[in-house]
Amino acid sequence: MNIQQNKPAETGSTMPAGETEILRLDAEERQKLWKQLAAEAERYFVDVEELSVTPPMDPEAIRQNLASFRFDEGVAPAEVTDFVVTMLRKYQVQQAHPMYYGLFNPASSTMGVAGDFLAAVFNPQLAAWSHSPIAAEIENHLISTFGGLFGYDEAETEGTFTSGGAEANHTALLTAITAHFPGFSEQGVRSLRGQPVFYVSSQSHHSFLKAARFCGLGTGAVRHVPVDSKLRMSAGSLADIIRKDIRDGLEPFMVVASAGTTNAGVIDPLQQIADVAREFGL
Ligand SMILES: Cc1ncc(COP(=O)(O)O)c(C=O)c1O
Repeated sequence: MNIQQNKPAETGSTMPAGETEILRLDAEERQKLWKQLAAEAERYFVDVEELSVTPPMDPEAIRQNLASFRFDEGVAPAEVTDFVVTMLRKYQVQQAHPMYYGLFNPASSTMGVAGDFLAAVFNPQLAAWSHSPIAAEIENHLISTFGGLFGYDEAETEGTFTSGGAEANHTALLTAITAHFPGFSEQGVRSLRGQPVFYVSSQSHHSFLKAARFCGLGTGAVRHVPVDSKLRMSAGSLADIIRKDIRDGLEPFMVVASAGTTNAGVIDPLQQIADVAREFGL
């Protein structure tokens, strides 16, 4: 297909006038759109292995395709859907491809697609429990039930969904520092006696460096513990570094073990690391 021919301005005639119609097409147009979307989803799952796993690295071609959208004229729903699908089939890594061996960028699952679709349709608003009691309770139920499956007391398990690993790590860092230094919540880093430090393996994800910046600790707070020949955090080295840091007047407060590192999927010796953390009250 020649993507360049797919210029939206040439086929904008069916765009309905009026704000309401733009936000919610009429029933006939909606039916057509849902059919097109379902057909494209199904086509993708059936023929993804015929696509290239990796995209061409051609920013100019991509920008040229986008340049025709000037937002001075409407674009027909079928047209713009076709354009986006064509672009997605070409210009992204295809995680659903059987030859994609990435560790953690997941292929979409059928029920994940259904869930995202329903979330977009109903747009459950989670700012307050009363806005979407069912969505709020789905979150609570999943967190406590999964907590139970991970061996925690369900009644004592609570939390929130996060947008991903970076937000989860940031939340963990804030939680740990607040638990360890009670003044932190109100007075921030000014309340801390010395330089707070936490421990990650040299294989850990860089989001911890960002989280250290977000929290006002600075990246100097991140202590990288060496790994063994299998890339697992060395619990012995961890204990040695903590002891030395305490002697040097630093304030250790958290240890991060990985249950699947980004680069190699390595699982740190969780029990040994937990023992060291307990020994030092981290
Ligand atoms: C171990 C680990 N933590 C955190 C992240 C950051 O995740 P996200 O990009 O979903 O915020 C990643 C992403 O690769 C990761 O592998």
